Amino acid sequence: MSEKIHATVAVTGVTGALGGRIAARLAGHGVPQLLVGRSPDRMPELPGAQRRGPAAYADADAMRKALEGASTLILVSGHRTGRRLEEHATAVEAAIAVGVDRVLYVSLVGAAPAATYTNARDQWLTEQFLAGAGIRHTVLRAGFYTSTPAALANEEFVVSGPASTGRAAFVTHEDIADVITAVALDEGPCSEHDGATLEITGPEALTLDEAVTRIAAATGRPYRFEPETLEDAFTRRWRLGMSGEQIETWISWYQAIERGEISVVTDVVPRLTGSPATPISDAAWWPAPKTARGTR
Ligand SMILES: NC(=O)c1ccc[n+]([C@@H]2O[C@H](COP(=O)([O-])OP(=O)(O)OC[C@H]3O[C@@H](n4cnc5c(N)ncnc54)[C@H](OP(=O)(O)O)[C@@H]3O)[C@@H](O)[C@H]2O)c1
Repeated sequence: MSEKIHATVAVTGVTGALGGRIAARLAGHGVPQLLVGRSPDRMPELPGAQRRGPAAYADADAMRKALEGASTLILVSGHRTGRRLEEHATAVEAAIAVGVDRVLYVSLVGAAPAATYTNARDQWLTEQFLAGAGIRHTVLRAGFYTSTPAALANEEFVVSGPASTGRAAFVTHEDIADVITAVALDEGPCSEHDGATLEITGPEALTLDEAVTRIAAATGRPYRFEPETLEDAFTRRWRLGMSGEQIETWISWYQAIERGEISVVTDVVPRLTGSPATPISDAAWWPAPKTARGTR
């Protein structure tokens, strides 16, 4: 643990995979934290961390109360609700109202107003809001998670979707958390990361066939990728009972890969952490099949 006195960092999403990892790393560096979320009883117990809430992003009063005393807010993007911009904007406005002076926002590689992946459009909207909000901020665009193809597989370990031979630079939660921790620890009155958009990617852009083959080798399980036509992708998901929104979301995830919108490979992980980005075959953990949100 470092001897340095750190300013207080509020971290959201700590009951989830990314926020929990960020909070654990900051605790390891001796950073005082406010863990902010909807279910304080499900938050981790960490040295130097207070649990605050319940506070959903859309609840301005609860967010103001939960963020009181923080200097930096690490805002992990919430689940898709159709009102994600409004929810994130409320959270940022609450932070400004109680004197937080810096926001680190976790967005998505490929965020753009006309992005193929529906969630990347939402993320761009929040990025635009932040750009005009009048607060120091850094946008941390995470690549598609290394874990997602494994979570998308069915009981037979088959991953199917309309991605063809498009590529994505899948990145681990650990590498994303390491980068965000490094930016959070750069806590002077100004930082080279102020106003920056950092795209956090894995070390190489892989087709889904390549990615899934490596997951199979790493886990010893028979994962395989089967490309689908758009029509088959729709029909199979409809028969599985998925909603229109879920079908659109997941088809657009595969299509964003097919169109190369997630294929950028950057040096952000090695530059900020001092270690190479983790190849998919060395990922620390794999979710069970059929655990991706909105696929059940
Ligand atoms: N880069 C990618 O490939 C990728 C993939 C999936 C998702 N994402 C995005 O990245 C975020 C973090 O990923 P993750 O793997 O950590 O997801 P996760 O494990 O599902 O965790 C999401 C966290 O956000 C919290 N949250 C969601 N909506 C909220 C709201 N309206 N108000 C307050 N807290 C809220 C959740 O709290 P509860 O425990 O109360 O639900 C949870 O702590 C996701 O929420 C999503 O926006 C990115």
